[in-house]
Amino acid sequence: MFITLEGIEGAGKSTAAQFIISFLEENKISCLLTREPGGTLLGETLREQLLNYPMHSDAELLLMFAARAEHWHHKIKPALKNKQWVICDRYIDSSYAYQGAGRGIEIEKINALETTFFKDAQPDLTFIFDLSPEIGLQRAEKRGKLNRFEQETLDFHQRIRESYLVRAMNNQKKFQIIDASLSIEQIQYTLKERLALHL
Ligand code: TYD
Repeated sequence: MFITLEGIEGAGKSTAAQFIISFLEENKISCLLTREPGGTLLGETLREQLLNYPMHSDAELLLMFAARAEHWHHKIKPALKNKQWVICDRYIDSSYAYQGAGRGIEIEKINALETTFFKDAQPDLTFIFDLSPEIGLQRAEKRGKLNRFEQETLDFHQRIRESYLVRAMNNQKKFQIIDASLSIEQIQYTLKERLALHL
């Protein structure tokens, strides 16, 4: 299984990722936890630039996809081939949400990159951690220094949330929405229930 985790800043993806990994390991499933942008030497180098260095939105989109190509070919695909489950913190849906809805890049451009390079690199399941940006950004602020995306306006993050919800509505087979305002216990219970369907 290739599972991706998505959502606005502060929605609790990283905590959920850790929980998913322990749950899978308890069930004797070999798994790999990784993230985007990042996951490879090139990806982590690009991440540093992407999170901190101001750039044109087209450059941002192309670098996200460049990091993703390296990540898919050199990390995700080999792990899946090796029968591991891959849990990836952010993936292609982040580009539609942040560079598309957030920065205003035409969906057709993102779609062209996706269909040209990632047609056969699709997740089996995507959890969307849905939360109001007011709460998410407050949580992100408490974590410390804000990155370039976290420093964006509330409106930017509202568009991102909307974009995830619309994508989820249009493909209910692939997406599972998790209400990230619930307690950690309730979220973990839901994750367990949904993952158990695939064990
Ligand atoms: P995030 O995963 O939220 O990291 P942290 O756990 O440190 O908060 O940060 C990655 C940032 O990159 C996030 O703000 C969203 C952004 N991003 C995009 O804009 N487009 C993409 O395609 C991806 C993968 C991430």
